Parts: sequence; structure tokens; C-alpha cells
Amino acid sequence: MQKIQSAGLILRIYDIARDYKLRGGNASILGITKGRRLDFTIADVNEIYEGPVGVLWEMLMGEQIHVGGAEETEILARKAGINKDTAVLDLCSALGGPARHLAGKYGCKVTGLDATKKMVDEALRRTEKAGLTRLVTHKLGNALDMPFKAGTFDLVWGQDAWCYVTDKNRLISEASRVLKPSGVIAFTDWIQTENMTNGEWEALNSFMAFPYMETLDGYEHILRHAGFRILEKEDLSEDFAKHCHLYQSMLRNQLKKRVVKEYGSEMFQAADEGLARWVRAADEGKVGRGRLIGRKA
Ligand SMILES: C[S@@+](CC[C@H](N)C(=O)[O-])C[C@H]1O[C@@H](n2cnc3c(N)ncnc32)[C@H](O)[C@@H]1O
Repeated sequence: MQKIQSAGLILRIYDIARDYKLRGGNASILGITKGRRLDFTIADVNEIYEGPVGVLWEMLMGEQIHVGGAEETEILARKAGINKDTAVLDLCSALGGPARHLAGKYGCKVTGLDATKKMVDEALRRTEKAGLTRLVTHKLGNALDMPFKAGTFDLVWGQDAWCYVTDKNRLISEASRVLKPSGVIAFTDWIQTENMTNGEWEALNSFMAFPYMETLDGYEHILRHAGFRILEKEDLSEDFAKHCHLYQSMLRNQLKKRVVKEYGSEMFQAADEGLARWVRAADEGKVGRGRLIGRKA
């Protein structure tokens, strides 16, 4: 009888938590309610990265277009166990900054795959200039339909880019296909870390042209479902918030003049408003960044 009463009480607590959450509350007892997928496609990604967006991000972050730059690449490389014999696939490789870094430091072969022609052309040009064409190649293509045979790579790598991909399940299952048995997947990404209103979700993701962000637990679930064993799962959101402040201050102080001169004051205004929204959401613990590493079974 007592057992039945306890079960009833637990169910009641879950009901209360669910109601609270449906009203927009922060009911972490039930996890995070993921935002709905927005209508952004690969065509939108291509359009923004063919335009000034890639240039703007490079101004803020450098040619390694992710939070933390070369230092973060080093951390991920060490954790993923890269050496000169590792065949690496960098998914969504943009200008190829990380690919050249890894090849230059470890002597490994890196293939970069990116869906935007302007980024691939620029990556090819910079890799040639760096004298790394023997080790680094760049291919144009969609991460959801990779132009590689099964079992080609030892390591599938990604930094702060998979948030643009419209189907994370398919992305991870494609990564698993192109990995050799016991191959490793290692990536960082921008993630949703708390519940938010539909309005907040739409404003944050629309500014970036993200179809949606995963949660850290969501990524873990997808990886496990695709047959990966989780080696690392880290929440880097505190550091993410600090970097958001840093980028905001760079935009407002060092870069304002240049952005206004090259792209006009409207563009500066839009970038500043969008970034301010991200700073606020990061401070409120609603968005962040995670690092995940898994091994293919
Ligand atoms: C933030 S940048 C990536 C930065 C890069 N990982 C680095 O650390 O330097 C995002 C890149 O992802 C690419 N991208 C987005 N969706 C893609 C997809 N489905 N397939 C391939 N590339 C994609 C874009 O073209 C863009 O170059």
C-alpha cells in the first residue's frame, strides 16, 4: 500500500514538473525541452558563407573559426589521440585552419569537407601557400551525404559547425560509416543548455542560421544509438560565455570601424544586436558549448 502511495507521489511530482516546464519554467528534473527545427537549409548556409559572414567570423575568431582557436584544437587533438598515422576527416572544415594546424603539428593526413565553394576555394589556396598539399586536401560536399567510401578514416573531427547541420542523427551515422572499426569521433559544438521560450529560440538560431542546436545529452544519445562508446562528454559553457563577451567587446571596440566601412552600418547594427542576444543567453545559461569524444564499436 505504501509502495503504491510512493509511486503516486513520484508521478505527481513529475506532473507538477511537466506543467511547470510547459509554462516555460526551468524544470531540469525532466531535462531540457529541445527547440523546434527551424527552416534553414544548406542553401542558407552557402549563402551566408559565400557572403560577409565567414569574413566576419574570421575577424572575430581567426582562421580557425571556432571558440578558443588553436588552443582548443590542441586540446581536442590530444584527447582524440592524434598522431602522424591518423587519417583525419574534418567535417565542415571552412577555411581549413584546423586541418593545416593538425597536419603541420602532427604530420597526419587531413581531409576537409565543406559545403560552401568559397570556403573550399579559399582553404585550397591557403593550404597551397602553406606548402601542405601533400598532407591536406579539401573537398566540396555535404556532411549528410559524404563523398567517401565506408571505413576510410581513423578520426572524424568537427569544431563548432555541426549546429548548422539539419539532421544530426544522419550526420553521426554518416560519420560512423566512413570511420574504420574502432575509429574515433571527436567534436565540439554550440548547444542548447536550458529551456527557453519559442521567441528566444527563434531569435538566437535565426541570427546564426542554425536549423537547431543539440543538447549535450542529445548528442550522447545520438552517439550511443549510432554504436559509439562515449569517451568524453564535457560542458564548456562557462568558457563559452566568457568568449561571447570577448567577441562582443572586439566587435564594438576593435572591429566596428572596419565592419561599418566594408559592409555598412546596418550590417554592424545587425551583428551587434545578434551577438548581444547570444551574450545574454550564454550568461543566463541557456546556450553553451560541449565537447564529445566517442569510439566506434
Ligand atoms: C563555423 S564554420 C566551421 C569552422 C571550422 N570547423 C573551423 O574550426 O575553422 C561553419 C562551416 O560549416 C560548413 N557547413 C555547414 N553545414 C554543412 C554541411 N551540411 N556539410 C558541409 N559543410 C557544412 C559551412 O559551409 C561553413 O564553412
